[in-house]
Amino acid sequence: MDSILVKGNGPLNGEIAISGAKNAALTLMPATLLTDEPLTLTNVPRLLDIKTTNELLSSLGTEVAMMQEGQIIVLDTNQITNHTAHYDIVRKMRASILVLGPMLARDGKAIVSLPGGCAIGARPVDLHLQGLEAMGATIELKEGYIHAVAKGGLKGATIDFSFASVGATENILMAATLAKGTTVINNAAREPEIVDLADCLRKMGAQISGDGSPTITIQGVDKLHGATHPVVADRIELGTYMLAPVIAGGEVELLGGRINLLHSYCEKLDEAGISVTETKRGLKVTSRNGRINAVNVVTEPFPGFPTDLQAQMMAALCTANGTSVLEETIFENRFMHAPELIRMGANIDVHGGTATVTGVNRLKGAPVMATDLRASVSLILAGLAASGETIVSRVYHLDRGYERLVRKLSSCGANIERITS
Ligand code: UD1
Repeated sequence: MDSILVKGNGPLNGEIAISGAKNAALTLMPATLLTDEPLTLTNVPRLLDIKTTNELLSSLGTEVAMMQEGQIIVLDTNQITNHTAHYDIVRKMRASILVLGPMLARDGKAIVSLPGGCAIGARPVDLHLQGLEAMGATIELKEGYIHAVAKGGLKGATIDFSFASVGATENILMAATLAKGTTVINNAAREPEIVDLADCLRKMGAQISGDGSPTITIQGVDKLHGATHPVVADRIELGTYMLAPVIAGGEVELLGGRINLLHSYCEKLDEAGISVTETKRGLKVTSRNGRINAVNVVTEPFPGFPTDLQAQMMAALCTANGTSVLEETIFENRFMHAPELIRMGANIDVHGGTATVTGVNRLKGAPVMATDLRASVSLILAGLAASGETIVSRVYHLDRGYERLVRKLSSCGANIERITS
């Protein structure tokens, strides 16, 4: 299995182009199932999860064509020829559950494997199912699969989510575009990826309002048509690379970055004493002289501090001046990077959903490994300023979510290489 070797190599200087958002692309792609006309997505990141989604959609009958090395994908689902999303694919990627709503909306039937647990927590799909049931679907769980039927089609309904789930909001939003009547989603997730999905669905002819707020209203239409849509910038990739000069020193411009994608995150960086400025082309982050300030972080749904940046922030706070407390409220098991950072010399104490990090002068390189995407990248960031060598194994996690990571960081002067075994 490949690994990544990082050597602390002094300040980083240069620019990094931010790719299209993985999490937006993973919800935009299943929207092809809502129409018999082609959906063209541009600014698609070249990632393992996109390949997996292509495989999943192909298995359902979508014709997939890629251009510009995969940055443009044309998805054509003239007909859904198979309504079963198999365990073999769904287990690789939880976002596969997003084919459920669209298939049910278009053809009144879908069978999708239950995603099961994952490294960062149990992650049930009860909210997705409750929403579809409220819209008239009959759902049975049999032998690990969700069997959903909507005879005569889905009907508009008012759905009150007990938690603002990103995936459940996306599934119901897509399903409601072809339902009869009006659907109102209360306590909807407000993430920029939801707004991007709604923008794309509107281009396809859907009638949606309120996306980006806690109440989304969808007026069902008979048919959607083809469209072309650019994937929004990846705010998590942006937030990750914003920390590279903070940890290693230097100044890096993040091309395509916008503060409004990461408002509360930028506020937290400001509190830590980190300078972020908007430029014509994106955002510029400049390291400060000396250690950053310790800060307390609580992860929350958007517009709060993103759970997907908690691990990276912890890596930065390992060398802050003072003690920081990080509270994880979205996932129950999302501190798996902490023991690995401790192996690099960090002072971290984890109790349940809270991690207390007392800054040390410098981390030391070590062989480390992580069991999820964001945890893996936090170890790469930590390695940028650690003394000696850090070897991060299980690189396939990074391949799922960071396009050309080695190339992007080394273009700013990082000493980083992939070791193929
Ligand atoms: C999405 C993102 C992921 C991010 C997360 C939170 C994608 C592909 N993934 O995941 O990167 O970390 O949002 O910002 O976009 N829950 C339930 N029942 C449900 C659904 C969710 O209890 O039916 C719980 C989950 O177990 C979790 C919490 O709600 O504890 C948040 O999950 P959700 O917002 O649905 O995240 P995902 O869509 O899975």
